[in-house]
Amino acid sequence: MNYPAKVGAASLQNLELVRGTRPLHRRMRSRASAILFDRRYGVRTEEDVPLEDLGVAAPGRNGYMPYRLRLLRRVLSQQEVTERDVFLDVGSGMGRVVLQAALHYPFRRVIGVEVSRQLNDIAVANVCRLRGKLRCRSVVLVHADVLDFDIPADASIVFLFNPFSGVVFSRFVERLLESVDRHPREVRIIYADPKEEATLLATGRVSHVSTRRGWRPTAGWSRSNSTRTYRVWPASCSDARVRNAMDRSVVAMQRQALATEDKADR
Ligand SMILES: C[S@@+](CC[C@H](N)C(=O)[O-])C[C@H]1O[C@@H](n2cnc3c(N)ncnc32)[C@H](O)[C@@H]1O
Repeated sequence: MNYPAKVGAASLQNLELVRGTRPLHRRMRSRASAILFDRRYGVRTEEDVPLEDLGVAAPGRNGYMPYRLRLLRRVLSQQEVTERDVFLDVGSGMGRVVLQAALHYPFRRVIGVEVSRQLNDIAVANVCRLRGKLRCRSVVLVHADVLDFDIPADASIVFLFNPFSGVVFSRFVERLLESVDRHPREVRIIYADPKEEATLLATGRVSHVSTRRGWRPTAGWSRSNSTRTYRVWPASCSDARVRNAMDRSVVAMQRQALATEDKADR
């Protein structure tokens, strides 16, 4: 496969800005467990790749960097997912999060959309290697720019690990809201390193539900290490008091579920 084995030095600098926001020992520990995961299952997810090296760089698009291996299970409890839920990873890269979603949750379908054909091919190979172990048997990986991709009418959990910003992000949010209006349903957004949170909240249709904070010596560093969960409201629900009451009950349920699972993990 025509794919660069090494990352260029200039882009490494950018990636290190983000990588550098956690203490070294933690970064080494999570990197080591990701490498072990890749080795154990014969998959390839633990790399940083700038889009320049893949020939798909464009303003607003961010490069490939995998989400921390065990983090999805810390932000989304198994009890919050049912067999009716459909998970969509926007900017799915080599498929790290797609694999985690399909391995650990009873999703009806797990979908990834990725702008780089080379990364998407790697994700397809990864899913094939783990196919026998997946709890969710329906995994779909689409090679497309997110703005040319029809958001599935049943997508209920939308995951973003800072895949793009600026106009691309605004346009994506508009299309997501259009999808919810056309096919009314409950949608949650899980957004890691939520640089464009202001754009989400400015729609008046999205409210913040919870935050999983990372290491935080400063506010900016804290944000880049955080994963936030939001709820998308139907256009018809404009009463802030109803929304707040519902959000509070979701937060309470989520806390309880994650605490129970944390205890069981120990
Ligand atoms: C930070 S990585 C996240 C990878 C994966 N979701 C994970 O968490 O492990 C962001 C990904 O978004 C992809 N991306 C950037 N712009 C995109 C676009 N317009 N459409 C689809 N994917 C895009 C990049 O190629 C990259 O693989």
